[in-house]
Amino acid sequence: MGFFAASGLLLLLLPVALLATAGEGAGKRAPPHRILVDTDVDTDDLFAILYLLKHDRAEFDVQAITINTNSWTDAGHAGNQLYDLLYMMGRDDIAVGVGGEGGISDDGRMYPDIGGYFPIIDQEMSTVGGCRYRQSIPQGGGGRLDINANYGVRRAFLPQGKRSYSPLQQPTTQQVMIDTISAGPTNVFLIGTHTNFALFLMNNPHLKENVKHIYIMGGGVRSRNPTGCCLKNDTLCVPRQCGDHGNMFTTYTKNPYAEFNIFGDPFGAYQVFHSGIPVTLVPLDATNTIPITEAFFKAFEEQQSTYEAQYSFQSLKITRDTWFDDQFYASYFMWDSFMSGVALSIIRNGQKPNGENDFAEMELMNITVVTSNEPYGVHDGSNPFFDGHASPKFNLLEGGVHSGHVQTGLDDSFCVLKGSIKGKCQDGYTKEMEGPDSVAVLVAVKAKPNRNVKSPLDREFFENFLEVLNRPEHTGQFNFTNQFPRYKEIMYKPDFKHQIKGKPVIFDMDMSPGDFVALMCLLKAPLAAIDLRGILVSGNGWANPATVDIIYDVLHMMGRDDIPVGLGNITALRSPDLGCEYVKAIPHGSGGFLDTDTLFGLARVLPRSPRSEIWCS
Ligand SMILES: *[C@@H]1O[C@H](CO)[C@@H](O)[C@H](O)[C@H]1NC(C)=O
Ligand SMILES: *[C@@H]1O[C@H](CO)[C@@H](O)[C@H](O)[C@H]1NC(C)=O
Ligand SMILES: *[C@@H]1O[C@H](CO)[C@@H](O)[C@H](O)[C@H]1NC(C)=O
Ligand SMILES: *[C@@H]1O[C@H](CO)[C@@H](O)[C@H](O)[C@H]1NC(C)=O
Repeated sequence: MGFFAASGLLLLLLPVALLATAGEGAGKRAPPHRILVDTDVDTDDLFAILYLLKHDRAEFDVQAITINTNSWTDAGHAGNQLYDLLYMMGRDDIAVGVGGEGGISDDGRMYPDIGGYFPIIDQEMSTVGGCRYRQSIPQGGGGRLDINANYGVRRAFLPQGKRSYSPLQQPTTQQVMIDTISAGPTNVFLIGTHTNFALFLMNNPHLKENVKHIYIMGGGVRSRNPTGCCLKNDTLCVPRQCGDHGNMFTTYTKNPYAEFNIFGDPFGAYQVFHSGIPVTLVPLDATNTIPITEAFFKAFEEQQSTYEAQYSFQSLKITRDTWFDDQFYASYFMWDSFMSGVALSIIRNGQKPNGENDFAEMELMNITVVTSNEPYGVHDGSNPFFDGHASPKFNLLEGGVHSGHVQTGLDDSFCVLKGSIKGKCQDGYTKEMEGPDSVAVLVAVKAKPNRNVKSPLDREFFENFLEVLNRPEHTGQFNFTNQFPRYKEIMYKPDFKHQIKGKPVIFDMDMSPGDFVALMCLLKAPLAAIDLRGILVSGNGWANPATVDIIYDVLHMMGRDDIPVGLGNITALRSPDLGCEYVKAIPHGSGGFLDTDTLFGLARVLPRSPRSEIWCS
């Protein structure tokens, strides 16, 4: 009896044990893959982040998102965007890191909490400095103004949660990276410049072992840019970026090799690629083969069953509708979202050495990142790692790969190749190379065609992207209209017909807190004394131009939507459109742009005006 009872128990236990191990084998019980995303919060990054958040947290768990503060967006605006996006997706648990006040001393000492406002080569002790690489990004329409506001779509669409930037309490990027990565093995997704993560690696080498794998969208290895090419029979056409490795439409006449993310901080990218941590790269080689086609755009338009799909589509549509030429479908690609799809598919397949995945063909290549131009060791004043130092910063090798000419800007005469419309500088080029100074990297070379040949969508990832964004699971709870059902898009315009009006006044302001106080005073003054007729805003002062939204909100709160607001020039008179000639004296972090762009975080409590940045550009 006893024997039978015991064996019966065994028989009962056995299948349970088998099931448990089988479950683990199938990935059911395995812990989720932890992910940290570092992003410049460009429109395309939003697609990638939403795509990631749509996956089951039991499989892919986005733990933290950190913000690039030296690329397509500015810290305060990028923070607002992310907080709203995460709130919509019900993911207020995800840590958000932005900025930091640390610096690097002249002798190379790195302080913790460096905010990443500058490429490492130009980082000094404060958040004040120039824009060597960043000036390649346009500041107005189609550039930071539009991207900071996501073309006004953020304010029109996203709900608003409780989290926001808060001075002195805001978790910094470096702190969030340290906390997340020390808590367990983490996959790092880099979809902006590499400054933040490079600083993390340089400051915390003991935490490297917790970084499982780095997935990067950026660079161009064997790529040939299809943008700006001429038809064979068109003799008048001048080719622009056609055939370039890179995609820097503002600086290909000086540097046709670089792609924006890597160009934003070539030395930072070098640190990441050469960190010894395994890297998978999705460069332009692959993304050039997955342009947003008209067929995809149409399919997307027809498939918007979730808020996240709607938000993404509206963002894509306004990007298309404001595109600077008629070549949108030939020059806008799936960049960060494609990388995210490839990465998740690789991870799901167990991260095979050949990087097998559903969406891209992969190839191993030996590459490096060019950080300075030959000849090396010539001190021409362009390279702050060497110039003006008794011994090179960070003990870099005299005469080594970092010791050449570093591109100083968009008008760098060193970079001009005589007799050619293309330049010769290679800063930021992810270049194929053999030998000890190269690293083996898994590179995506091509987007895979759709297995369903009958579909109008010609890439496998197109189908997956639309399917994932439209899944009913892990979906957004509401948009702005549903969150505030009593909100009406009303323009409040007072009727002053029978009132005595005082002196007509035009107020020309930048957007520092003091200017807002002055604006309030003018609005409070009796109409018989002061008649405020219009506001001119200079976009080159203490706040970024996209901050004009706060003026609209203040006017809305005061019931004065009748007052016209004009956004003036974004750069100072007689200084180039691309650059930061005078504005570089204003700090980026605390007490500077981060605080003024958000009005110390207080702008979030203003009522939302139906007017926004998009009215200006
Ligand atoms: C918000 O969602 C509702 C449908 O639930 C839709 O009618 C409305 O247009 C959306 N708002 C925006 C700004 O797209
Ligand atoms: C060039 O050829 C294409 C078709 O091959 C034609 O559509 C186009 O009009 C031609 N362009 C010029 C400038 O002749
Ligand atoms: C990369 O370099 C290593 C050693 O330097 C070499 O063995 C390998 O064949 C190279 N791989 C490729 C794809 O060139
Ligand atoms: C801004 O300045 C540039 C050159 O400095 C000029 O060409 C442009 O017309 C100005 N734009 C406005 C809106 O004043």
